[in-house]
Formats: sequence, structure tokens, C-alpha cells
Amino acid sequence: MAETNTPTTVLREEHRLILKVLDALERVLNEGSAVSAQNVETLAKFVSFFRLFADACHHGKEEDLLFPELEARGIPREGGPIGVMLAEHEQGRGFVRQMHEALPGARAGEAAAVDALVSAGRDYIDLLRQHIDKENNVLFMMADRVVDESSCARLCGEYAHVCSGKFSGQTKDELQELAAELIRAAV
Ligand SMILES: [Fe+2]
Repeated sequence: MAETNTPTTVLREEHRLILKVLDALERVLNEGSAVSAQNVETLAKFVSFFRLFADACHHGKEEDLLFPELEARGIPREGGPIGVMLAEHEQGRGFVRQMHEALPGARAGEAAAVDALVSAGRDYIDLLRQHIDKENNVLFMMADRVVDESSCARLCGEYAHVCSGKFSGQTKDELQELAAELIRAAV
């Protein structure tokens, strides 16, 4: 059974899921000025999804597998799109860390912590949407041009190996189920 896999097929699929979860987060943040106790627990689940799926599972494959492959094929890291993507991954980690650190205060009903949580959430949404757009339309287009078929097959095997691992004890399937739960809850 032939599948039309390119070096970015799996990553683009993951982008689609991450974008849906970002939309769900936006809906939660837009629900009202006050973040309720129940919302804080929902937001904690969003933070888990971003840490384990968006960062560990997805950015992990880009940083450890795709980007080095592209560098080896002449796409520069410094001063080029890979460097920009890496810097944005780091910026995203900063926003997720801020959200995570604000959770205890938000649970305790501290207004400053709630504000910090909402503000970091909005910053993360804005960053990731434009970041994914750049990856899909610039770097991934380059990747699909420069990675030949045999390297593509090897890369896809390596992606599958990462995807079959666990992320803080959770499988990719479980994290996708968490995403579905968050998307359903935020309708
Ligand atoms: Fe990505």
C-alpha cells in the first residue's frame, strides 16, 4: 500500500492538530474576564498538551531529525529559516513555562497569576500560529524539495520511532485523545 509520505507529512498533520488546540485555547480564554477554578484545571491540561505533544513530540522531531537533515543538505542554521524556527521554539517554551508557573497562583484565585496565565496563553497562540504558517509555507516547502526519497523513507522511520515513545509517561495516542477532549470541551 503506497503512501505519499514526504519528510513533512507527519509534521504537517501534527500542525493541524496543534492549530485546533490553539483555537480551543483561544475559546477558553475568550469565555470571560475571570478564569474560573474549573477553567484553571482545563488550562493545566492545555499546558500539558503543549509541553508533551507540541514541544516534546513535535518540536523534538523537527529539532533532532528534520532540521539536522536540512542542514546537511545545505540549508543554513544561522541566519536562515532553521535558526528562526529554533528561536521561535525557544520563545514558545518560555510562554508555556510562564503558563505553567502561573497555574498554582491561578488555582488560588490570585488575580495577577490569572492575568499572567491568560497573557502568556495569548502570546503563545499568536506565536505558534505564525510559526506554523512559516514552517508549512517556507521551511517545509524547502524540505520537500531537498530531501530525496531514500532519506525521506529513513526520516519517516525515525519519526515513527519518536512517535512510538512516551512523553512523561503518555503515548502520542493518549496525547491526541487529550487534544480531542480539549477541543470538545471548548466548543
Ligand atoms: Fe512545527
